[in-house]
Amino acid sequence: MPEHIAYSWRGPVTDSEMVELVQSYGGRAVAGWWDQIRGHSLGWVTARNVEGELVGFVNVAWDGGDHAFLMDTKTRGSLQHQGVGTEVVRRAVVHARAAGCEWLHVDFDAELAPFYFDACGFRSTAAGLIHLPSRP
Ligand SMILES: CC(C)(COP(=O)(O)OP(=O)(O)OC[C@H]1O[C@@H](n2cnc3c(N)ncnc32)[C@H](O)[C@@H]1OP(=O)(O)O)[C@@H](O)C(=O)NCCC(=O)NCCS
Repeated sequence: MPEHIAYSWRGPVTDSEMVELVQSYGGRAVAGWWDQIRGHSLGWVTARNVEGELVGFVNVAWDGGDHAFLMDTKTRGSLQHQGVGTEVVRRAVVHARAAGCEWLHVDFDAELAPFYFDACGFRSTAAGLIHLPSRP
């Protein structure tokens, strides 16, 4: 685990910081995305290095009751595979539980199974998904 990473729950994050974080690992950044979804979150975890740069993030959406949804885990490209992703998820789990949620859901591409199952402790369950724009 890299030293001197500061983690926060619901800490301030700007939309442009989110764009820069996504670009750091070669992801497709969409300006305005974070400003659009932030208001629908139970909370989010940020990780910042000593310079204050955003190096990790995960968002937790919520149904207002028992169910929370973990989404958009991100670690800066230069800091991946050093435990930051596992730590932001661990903290999201703690805060979702403290908020009274009973279940924390996540879905992901198959190649991320070692991260979510082995490193973060999720278990497999039956789930379903519809891609709405493809639906006639
Ligand atoms: C997925 C992601 C958040 C993981 O962050 P990270 O900080 O590198 O994760 P950790 O260092 O805590 O990883 C712990 C373990 O999980 C597994 N793991 C991590 N990233 C993985 C990946 N991309 N594919 C498969 N397994 C992975 C490994 O077993 C890893 O241990 P190791 O480093 O000894 O190999 C990071 O790769 C990322 O930002 N990816 C781009 C965005 C993305 O795809 N997010 C997922 C949205 S569902």
